[in-house]
Amino acid sequence: MRLEDKVALITGGSSGIGKATALLFAGEGAKVVIADINDEAAQKTINEITAQGHRASFIHADVSRSDDCRSMVEHTETAFGQLDILFNNAGIMDSRDDNAETTDEETWDLTMNINAKGVFLGCKYGIPALKRAGGGSIINTASFVSLLGAATPQIAYTASKGAVLSLTRELAVLHAREGIRVNALCPGPLRTELLMKFLNTEEKKQKRLVHIPMGRFGEAEEMAKAALFLASDDSSYVTGTEFLVDGGITAAYVTPE
Ligand SMILES: NC(=O)c1ccc[n+]([C@@H]2O[C@H](COP(=O)([O-])OP(=O)(O)OC[C@H]3O[C@@H](n4cnc5c(N)ncnc54)[C@H](O)[C@@H]3O)[C@@H](O)[C@H]2O)c1
Repeated sequence: MRLEDKVALITGGSSGIGKATALLFAGEGAKVVIADINDEAAQKTINEITAQGHRASFIHADVSRSDDCRSMVEHTETAFGQLDILFNNAGIMDSRDDNAETTDEETWDLTMNINAKGVFLGCKYGIPALKRAGGGSIINTASFVSLLGAATPQIAYTASKGAVLSLTRELAVLHAREGIRVNALCPGPLRTELLMKFLNTEEKKQKRLVHIPMGRFGEAEEMAKAALFLASDDSSYVTGTEFLVDGGITAAYVTPE
């Protein structure tokens, strides 16, 4: 068990990467708190975890709201006594997100508030709790688009994920000597609801797939395994990284036929 006696708070834990990670972390011995806006899906995840004999708790929290982020950290410490692993994973990709000329300001603000400010707020309230626990691991979900421009325009999303990677690096430097490691998980294109809703035609899917050397979308479970490495002591000398799990997309200039 790689997370025995650890307590993990996972935002966006109702589905996709967050859900797969909640299940994996619980199986590795962690007590898990899921913070999400989708209460029904969250409850299903909690039920799955507890049915396997593990401990988990849910709190409704919108990561773009300061009060909710404070509450999710308080809830974690109240429910399980401490916070050791903070997985700032909740994020959106709005279907209105496009290029700079066509994207409206509301879409920009919403995307930045959830994807970038949400990570900041998670850290704002989470870091004091990690310090109280004597250190810990923060994982922020960025994206391969933190490093590459996307062929399918999504300007607000891409900017928000650039912000996540930048703030991850600075937090890693600031808190390294407090025993807090901070890493960005940078997934490639995944077969989760978030991307499949956005790439909603076969043509759009192919436009993305053509860039991936492995020729397929990634799975949420493959991201969960990477998050487990970053959360556990297996990565004890890893901080400030852009941990790419992307089927080779950022390595490719031309993909093989
Ligand atoms: N799917 C991909 O291809 C891909 C690629 C790179 C990065 N990511 C990132 O991975 C993370 C997880 O995405 P996913 O693919 O698992 O998507 P998903 O849509 O399956 O899960 C996202 C979760 O976040 C929750 N959420 C949305 N807004 C929220 C808010 N304001 N407060 C709290 N929770 C909120 C949703 O209810 C959902 O449970 C996101 O940050 C996303 O940007 C995804």
